[in-house]
Amino acid sequence: MYLNQSELFIKHLDLFKKIGELADRQNKEIYLIGGFVRDIILQRPSKDIDFVVIGKGIDFAKSLAQVLGNAKVSYFENYGTAQISIEDLIIEFVGARKESYQRDSRNPIVEDGTLKDDQDRRDLTINAMGIGLNRSNFGQLIDPFDGLGDIERQTIRTPLDPDKTFSDDPLRMMRAIRFATQLGFKIEENTYEGIVKNKERISIISQERITEELNKIIMSPVPSIGFEYLYYTGLLELVFPEMQDLHGVETINGFSHKDNFFHTLQVLDNLCQLSDDIWLRWAAILHDIAKPATKRFEPGIGWTFHGHEDKGSRMVKPIFKKLKLPLNEKMKFVEKMVLLHLRPIVLSQEKVTDSAVRRLMMEIGEDIDQLMKLCKSDITSKNEKKVERIKQNFAVVEEKIKQVAEKDYLRNWQPPISGTDIINRYQIIKKEHIGLLKNAVKQSILDGTVADVQTEAFVFLDQLANEMGIQKK
Ligand code: CTP
Repeated sequence: MYLNQSELFIKHLDLFKKIGELADRQNKEIYLIGGFVRDIILQRPSKDIDFVVIGKGIDFAKSLAQVLGNAKVSYFENYGTAQISIEDLIIEFVGARKESYQRDSRNPIVEDGTLKDDQDRRDLTINAMGIGLNRSNFGQLIDPFDGLGDIERQTIRTPLDPDKTFSDDPLRMMRAIRFATQLGFKIEENTYEGIVKNKERISIISQERITEELNKIIMSPVPSIGFEYLYYTGLLELVFPEMQDLHGVETINGFSHKDNFFHTLQVLDNLCQLSDDIWLRWAAILHDIAKPATKRFEPGIGWTFHGHEDKGSRMVKPIFKKLKLPLNEKMKFVEKMVLLHLRPIVLSQEKVTDSAVRRLMMEIGEDIDQLMKLCKSDITSKNEKKVERIKQNFAVVEEKIKQVAEKDYLRNWQPPISGTDIINRYQIIKKEHIGLLKNAVKQSILDGTVADVQTEAFVFLDQLANEMGIQKK
């Protein structure tokens, strides 16, 4: 199969031809490889392009940089890779490698290899496809593991025995789940079992890299796909035990509470329809995080989770610290969302007074819209009548927020021209003219006939003063 008619390939056709010709002149084989090939087939935008050279990737990149007019090359000798930046692209060259790993280390022993060796050591069949760039095979797909078929079947699968692929580099378990989530694919059974078997090896991967994958899962259209895979494979309790703890239902005297893990996933998926702000998505994940710790069964009342919003907001920082998420104003935003996530619903159950709305607005500040999105996503009841009632109450709260904001704005609003501005600009003879002019400007702005900016207000005032026989200074 040839892919040289695909849009993403044609976009870089000149570059690929130059690279292929240079490789031909040097008697080297060169291939496009990895994510870029996958994205050509999926027709997704791709920012990085990886090439594999049979031989030394660094040497090839050096000679290519000259052909491209002394483009800047960065070398990573330890990894045997070289990067060239051209316009908004980063292209990376690596020599084909054969790697073997030691059991307790991520650091591979690397030897030169063939294209097939290089494809063998990749994480997933969809990421192990190559495209030839030499004259003899320009544009030809080289797909020894049927990655193309897996894309058609929407399947995530490792090229080799998953036990080997995941044991070599355990981050690939997170990557498999992340790609399944981003693409909405299923993880093939053997590959899934490979994750279950190797899950403990995730402990040799740095927290930063694990969290990067978690964030990519969270930024996917339906993140619950990834969290369910993490949960059922057993990875979740290793990488994010606080979220795992949300799972479970307890029953006392016939009273059960809902499963807070699946509830949280639903809230997260709901929110993803309303916002792609990663921190608001984190707030959705953490909004009920203290429910397990605050859970009580109170006879005559049932299950309660008193103070879970307060305790939950205090759990945000230690969780962020452990997950190596930033401890900055983004974290404070998440703390605030978790702390206040019940307020709009409480508010909507009472008579919605101006002062209650104002108090909430003071506490939440300009993030009020974000809080309302979180609260709307938190409605997961199956009882349609209840859902309808809450939605209507929220509409009342939102209307009230708008009214109060408008009222407060008007109360604090000052026209753009002050009494002093008027005295400085006009020869005022009668003192009452100052108030008269000022009031006329104010009314015209409130009526909407004059814009709320000083230059426009002066145009209006100059004309009015002229009509009143008041001279400019
Ligand atoms: N790769 C791998 N094992 C890893 C990481 C990467 O086998 N742990 C291989 C895959 O073939 C992958 C390629 O290296 O396609 C490039 O990796 P990277 O740039 O990290 O990922 P992409 O697949 O391009 O996708 P994304 O940018 O979404 O991470």
